[in-house]
Amino acid sequence: MGLLKSKKILFIDNFCFDRDIILTVIESQFENQIVEVDSGEEAIKILTNDSEFALIICDFGFSDAGENAFYSFLKKQGNKVSVILINNSDIGNYSEFSNFYKDNALNDSFSRPIMERDIIDKVTLALGLNVSAEAGAKKYFKVNIARFIEVNSNKMDIFIKLSEDKFIKVVDKNNEYDKGAIAKYLNRNITFFYLTNEGLVSYLAQVAAYSAAGAIGQLDIDMDLQLTSVEQIHECVQALGINESTVKLATSVVALALVTIESNKKLEYVYKLLKSGTNYISLHAQLTSYIACSLASKMEWGTTPVLNSLTFAALFQNISLSNSKHAMIQNIDSDTFKNISEDEQRLIRNHVFKSVEMLQDLPKFNEDAHKAIINHHERPNGKGFPRGLMAAQIPPLCCVFILASQFAHELIVRGSSRDKIQSIINDFEKIYSHGNFDRPFYEFKKMFYE
Ligand SMILES: [Fe+2]
Repeated sequence: MGLLKSKKILFIDNFCFDRDIILTVIESQFENQIVEVDSGEEAIKILTNDSEFALIICDFGFSDAGENAFYSFLKKQGNKVSVILINNSDIGNYSEFSNFYKDNALNDSFSRPIMERDIIDKVTLALGLNVSAEAGAKKYFKVNIARFIEVNSNKMDIFIKLSEDKFIKVVDKNNEYDKGAIAKYLNRNITFFYLTNEGLVSYLAQVAAYSAAGAIGQLDIDMDLQLTSVEQIHECVQALGINESTVKLATSVVALALVTIESNKKLEYVYKLLKSGTNYISLHAQLTSYIACSLASKMEWGTTPVLNSLTFAALFQNISLSNSKHAMIQNIDSDTFKNISEDEQRLIRNHVFKSVEMLQDLPKFNEDAHKAIINHHERPNGKGFPRGLMAAQIPPLCCVFILASQFAHELIVRGSSRDKIQSIINDFEKIYSHGNFDRPFYEFKKMFYE
């Protein structure tokens, strides 16, 4: 085991959105040196001259013989090195890979969206290490200094390693973050900074945003999607004081989520609806994602998978309703609800189920997003719908989502001036200050009083 720990990891990538996030997670958790190459030919050259590799991670989007030759090369050598494919969706088209999972018992693949936990667990196993023995003991996490300087803009404690168990703090999280001052370490032969767990969580969220922004650039998405073009949302975000990195992250995740439905014929009208940005459903969806991400970060739940789930739920909570008039109804005891036809009432009562049904096949749609959509009209006092759950029956992450969704609605209906926000908070105080809503609501209020 000790031997594999000291062996190297080869990362082959010619074009991979997840590159920075995968590398950041691996370098933060494992001591193994990572060598990067950008083609299968280069990989063969390195593997021919160096037998110190325990694991190869590669983006399997290979279409030419040169790329596949790298795997044939490994097979000829007896598959001594394990391989994790970043994307195995085309694997069936290439005969070289026909026995991929049997060639080496430790071979594996990631499926998108790639979660941090997934990376850690799969790399641990592929290196032949023991998952439970490796977990939980670390206090400092290393990050590549060049990538950190490029990506980070948040205040955090930054350490440098002096010896095996000695770390010295070089930047304090209470001071202003000065990129220029930090960049001077680049010239001092230092390869890594070290972060606490709290710093790492904040940094990984930024790496995810950075990767997503890169992916958006590569996919040539229409940047009109950006909320900056929607004045009403922009004003709200400013009035709420949501910080820049959260806005950047939510914007990227929103755009990426839209990409996942762009090519889906079934969801074509949803894409157009959300993209237009001028109707209630689109405004409410995007505003909810900002507020939910900001609140989750305040609660220190702001990991990439959580923010992805919240954004996904925010965007698609009402997609089974094409009429904004229906999506705006929050209360089934209201006169507005009582005065519409029975068919319309049924549509509203069932829209949470219909929305998740429409999303079942999407790759990024997970359990948390599912629950958040199903519960987005539940209220702590049991007066919500469709199930009329009580506060204690609603999972904590759904409470965050419900608060965000309801607050986004009120902001659109009432406006986002200081007075209006204060009156919304006063009204929320009566409803949301107990049960599983207690802590999310406490943090929610702090967003405005800090
Ligand atoms: Fe809804």
